[in-house]
Amino acid sequence: MRKLLISLACCFVFCAANGAGPQLIPAPVSYTPMQGSCMNKNNVLVEVALPGFLKDVLKMPMFMREEAYRLTIKSSGIKIEALTQTGVYRAKTTLEQLKAAGGPLPCCVIFDYPRFRHRGMMIDESRSFKGLEFLKKQVDAMALLKLNVLHLHLTDAAGWRIEVPGYPVLTDSVAWRIGKSYFDWEKAGYPFASARNPQAYGGYYTAGELKELVAYAKARHITIIPEIEMPGHSMEVNRAYPELACVDESGRQHNFAWDLCPGNEGTFKLIKAVLDQVMDIFPSKFIHIGGDEAVMKDWPVCVNCRRRMQEEGYTDIRQLQGYLMRRVEAYLLEHGRRAIGWDEILDSGMSKDAVIMSWRGISGGEKGSAAGYDVILSPSTHCYLNYYQDLIRKEPAACGELVSLRFCYGYEPLTPAMDADHILGLQGNLWCEYIPTPEHAEYMLYPRMFAIAETGWSPAARKDFFDFRNRAYWLCGILHDRGYRTFDLDGESELARSGYQRFEQLEASKK
Ligand code: ACM
Ligand code: ZN
Repeated sequence: MRKLLISLACCFVFCAANGAGPQLIPAPVSYTPMQGSCMNKNNVLVEVALPGFLKDVLKMPMFMREEAYRLTIKSSGIKIEALTQTGVYRAKTTLEQLKAAGGPLPCCVIFDYPRFRHRGMMIDESRSFKGLEFLKKQVDAMALLKLNVLHLHLTDAAGWRIEVPGYPVLTDSVAWRIGKSYFDWEKAGYPFASARNPQAYGGYYTAGELKELVAYAKARHITIIPEIEMPGHSMEVNRAYPELACVDESGRQHNFAWDLCPGNEGTFKLIKAVLDQVMDIFPSKFIHIGGDEAVMKDWPVCVNCRRRMQEEGYTDIRQLQGYLMRRVEAYLLEHGRRAIGWDEILDSGMSKDAVIMSWRGISGGEKGSAAGYDVILSPSTHCYLNYYQDLIRKEPAACGELVSLRFCYGYEPLTPAMDADHILGLQGNLWCEYIPTPEHAEYMLYPRMFAIAETGWSPAARKDFFDFRNRAYWLCGILHDRGYRTFDLDGESELARSGYQRFEQLEASKK
């Protein structure tokens, strides 16, 4: 009996210390089980900004305090303590997951707060257009996972997705293409169409729809960060308005150019009109202005680009990208917003208000944070959810390496070379060249988005893959019941389960 009591006591201490406990993603900072269970699940007392709770969170950084909560479940009822409505909301999502397990709730105390302030998901609406209902549905799942940022990639060569006053061709024409999938469109030579063409694939969001989405996300304590790509990934703008594209000495307008023309003042007029619209719709402090993969092929032969170089005294064509990015950033700053850019902007001489989104591995995060920039980490190696999640032979075509659930979960954002004070957090990215439908997008998102959520919220020491996998399995079931299509963890290969990444090489070596 004594031994039993000792082992029960040990179990209690272990549970309290390690949080091993109910099915929750992300795992809470601390979980303390108590005797009994609570049948009266709807008897919830919410207490905001009580001195007792304030004392417990006082020393935390502001972003942690704002989302912190304590959830106490007793047989007599449930109590939520928090400083803000966001904290209350996070507690309610914990409760929602506990309730989803069915049966009486276990009596316990959960004290919880996030590790990082930015816990995001990027969805590419350009390469495939998935629509408002799809986005709302993903916002619901993000909220359940305590993710707090939805980054919308709204413009790219394959389709413009936001209406802009004064620039109707962006939505009348280059929001519509011939080619349902990105690769059909590419093979056909990138044809756009009128919205009235019965063959046309695509669409765009009206300002009203986007405002509705912003409000929907806000009610779930999620901020939407819009992304407008520039100067690269912008062929659709040149197709819509060839008079803005680079123009060579013969007068030929390069309307198939990949990049915007930084020599043409009309480019800046368009960008300002787009950003005015974006700032009207999205209250987010941060606006993403792209910055990745400009090819700069047309700039050397463009009379306007050459003139700009001469005026500015530039000797290297790449300086034109910095010129454009800095000018656009200044416009955002004038309006009280901060620019985010892909890690290429480290070469653009942006102000220290700009935020670096590190995608080509983590070196952008290391260099950026050491140089005093705030950083969001989304290295393709671990955070690109459009990469394969299992063996090529069993998965729909995707790109990149294997980012299995285990590999994704194994990501630790902080490295010794980073200035942790400048690391805002991390996000998963879902590029949609290979993802033509909403169902396919969900299949790629879940359960790997669970891993991003747990890495972003839970303390590193709380992470345990085998425990997480069981919880992920369970939560996939919950999402499935709610109408989401998820990857099937039952069918996952041993190789993916092992966390191995370079499966192509391994498979090739077996042949
Ligand atoms: C990117 O994946 N080109 C940001
Ligand atoms: Zn030009």
